[in-house]
Amino acid sequence: MAVDLLLGLQWGDEGKGKIVDVLTSKYNIIARFQGGPNAGHTLVFNGKKHVLHTIPSGIFHENTANVVGNGVVIDPVIFKKELDKLEEQGVDYKASLLISRKAHIILPTHRLLDAASEASKGKAKIGSTLKGIGPTYMDKTGRNGIRVGDIELADWKDKYRALADKHEAMIAFYNVDIQYDLKELENEFFEAIKVLKTLKFIDSEEYLHQAQKAGQSILAEGAQGSLLDIDFGTYPFVTSSNTTAAGACTGLGIAPNKIGEVFGIFKAYTTRVGSGPFPTELFDEVGETMGRVGNEFGATTGRPRRCGWLDLVALRYACQVNGVTQLIMMKGDVLSGFKTLKICTAYNYKGQVIEHLPYNIEAENVTPIYTEVKGWNENLTEMTEASKMPKALNDYIAFLEKELEIPITIVSVGPDRKQTIVR
Ligand code: GDP
Ligand code: IMO
Ligand code: MG
Repeated sequence: MAVDLLLGLQWGDEGKGKIVDVLTSKYNIIARFQGGPNAGHTLVFNGKKHVLHTIPSGIFHENTANVVGNGVVIDPVIFKKELDKLEEQGVDYKASLLISRKAHIILPTHRLLDAASEASKGKAKIGSTLKGIGPTYMDKTGRNGIRVGDIELADWKDKYRALADKHEAMIAFYNVDIQYDLKELENEFFEAIKVLKTLKFIDSEEYLHQAQKAGQSILAEGAQGSLLDIDFGTYPFVTSSNTTAAGACTGLGIAPNKIGEVFGIFKAYTTRVGSGPFPTELFDEVGETMGRVGNEFGATTGRPRRCGWLDLVALRYACQVNGVTQLIMMKGDVLSGFKTLKICTAYNYKGQVIEHLPYNIEAENVTPIYTEVKGWNENLTEMTEASKMPKALNDYIAFLEKELEIPITIVSVGPDRKQTIVR
């Protein structure tokens, strides 16, 4: 059976966690393929909010296997905290949570290196979540990393020590003021490793291959968003993994010809957390209202998210790079009450009108060109049927479908599982 993908088309936080949870009843397996605890995926059901960082968003469903793929980077300390929270909720994850032996481990010194690197950049900092993501992927591609499978080996602590010592020398090289007590961090780390070892480690590519052969349905869950992709995002203000569809192939061992539906998820407007260019960003009360009504604060760091109008130039690009087959529009409810809405359909790029994403989208190169459409006043949060949606919302959706040439099959109108309209 083909493997479906669900991934973010903007700068992350599109609502991936919510929709994976909504779709999980249709799948046997949910598999995370990249990123790590820089992600914060929020699920709301039965009046309770849950935030997951590394654990796939299918974990609250019984009878669903949840795979942490080889492309993911795991911080055992954060992972343990996530497990503790699940235990508090009475979620039995012991049988359903499966970890790839090839996933890389975030060491305490990776986190320190992240902090040192950011501090040394000053104003040019990436705005990283400081979870050690960049340094861990650097060690992966540099062929120095420690993988989950390594912690089953007798001599892995020697490997750990050598790498941690090297990291300490690198931290000193940055020559910035980073205070830390490595002994304390290591105690916490090795305690968490013990917990990690109680889980099921698998050769996930083989597991998923056999599952496909046996006709099991698989949904691959992305983290971050396409514009944070290491290759196709707004480099260097990106994360350190391939967040796009190709990342699901390398992050799970799924062949490209085994991919089925590609669900591309986007907010009805745009947000970004951290540094980097954002052509449609708003600095006025409209942006402030989006942030307030949309409760736009990072699920991992709590930082306020920057807000702006929907950018179809960027969205079209993301649809192309990912091969999106179905679109899912989130947070339509947040736009209720605006008299008019703006949609960016092209850029003025160095005096020329262009419709594709250029190499450089900094404000000095790019000015968005907007189409204005009518807004809607109706409160959407109680709506469950497409037939009840206001005309202006239908017109907004029809405009996007025409521009992007992809159907919008789900419209989300609130954070809760139930606030989801299937069209
Ligand atoms: P993810 O990283 O893509 O999983 O998204 P986050 O969880 O970081 O951010 C999405 C935020 O929007 C969370 O607080 C969700 O609870 C919330 N959310 C999701 N869908 C909707 C929606 O349709 N309307 C509103 N108002 N909030 C939503
Ligand atoms: P989810 O999965 C939004 C951003 C950071 C920073 C840049 C690099 O919840 O959508 P990193 O920690 O990876 O070195 O940070 O990427 N970023 C995210 N923004 N949602 C995320 O994940 C993000 N993960 C990283 O803010 O700008
Ligand atoms: Mg998030």
